[in-house]
Amino acid sequence: MELDDAIMNRTSVRHFLDRQVPDEHVRALIEAAMRAPTASGLENWLFVVFRSDEARDKIYRLIGEGMEAYYRAVNLPEEKIEKLRERIYRDGMFRAPVYIAVFIDRRVRFLKGEEFDELEFLWSVESAAMAIQNLMLKAVELGLGTVYIGVTNFEDIEEEVRELAGLDENYYLVGLIPVGYPRGEVKPRKRRKGLEDVTRFI
Ligand SMILES: Cc1cc2nc3c(=O)[nH]c(=O)nc-3n(C[C@H](O)[C@H](O)[C@H](O)COP(=O)(O)O)c2cc1C
Repeated sequence: MELDDAIMNRTSVRHFLDRQVPDEHVRALIEAAMRAPTASGLENWLFVVFRSDEARDKIYRLIGEGMEAYYRAVNLPEEKIEKLRERIYRDGMFRAPVYIAVFIDRRVRFLKGEEFDELEFLWSVESAAMAIQNLMLKAVELGLGTVYIGVTNFEDIEEEVRELAGLDENYYLVGLIPVGYPRGEVKPRKRRKGLEDVTRFI
């Protein structure tokens, strides 16, 4: 597949078929992720693949909780929240055959002083985000769908994901990615802004 096709066809997929993703595809996704640039060459990321029924069920429920908390945080009316619950628990939105959680190990850093704490953290997160984008583009090539889940960073939820992964608080969850074969039509979303709105030539 041409890179441009992967870029233009990637879109967030939230409904998946009940079909296994072969392990070699999961490995190919992580190999693509690992090719991303990484600040100071640290590679301090960790990809945790949740594929057992028990772990997947837990993650799916945590995403549901996170989405509900997100809707509540912007004061959406109760009927909208009920609709969200229906989409999640009746239609199986976010239920995927595989979830990949991308963590960074906050202890691994290049600049040691306290004054660099924030910068080192940001660099690690940025590196992991680039890895996630690689993973998502590779998924398009393999006919897989993905969506970046950020709501699992709500405090108590992140703690549960970390526990399920067997990690302590030295690890920060950058993103949680449901992966699977798309259910229904995959139609890339239009952008709200044009090139001119978001670009400055100086
Ligand atoms: C950092 C980040 C966090 C996100 N968190 C969520 C999330 O918690 N739940 C969700 O359904 N989508 C989430 N998304 C997906 C965005 O909603 C989506 O990318 C955006 O609406 C643009 O749509 P597209 O990906 O189809 O182009 C997240 C995306 C990013 C980059």
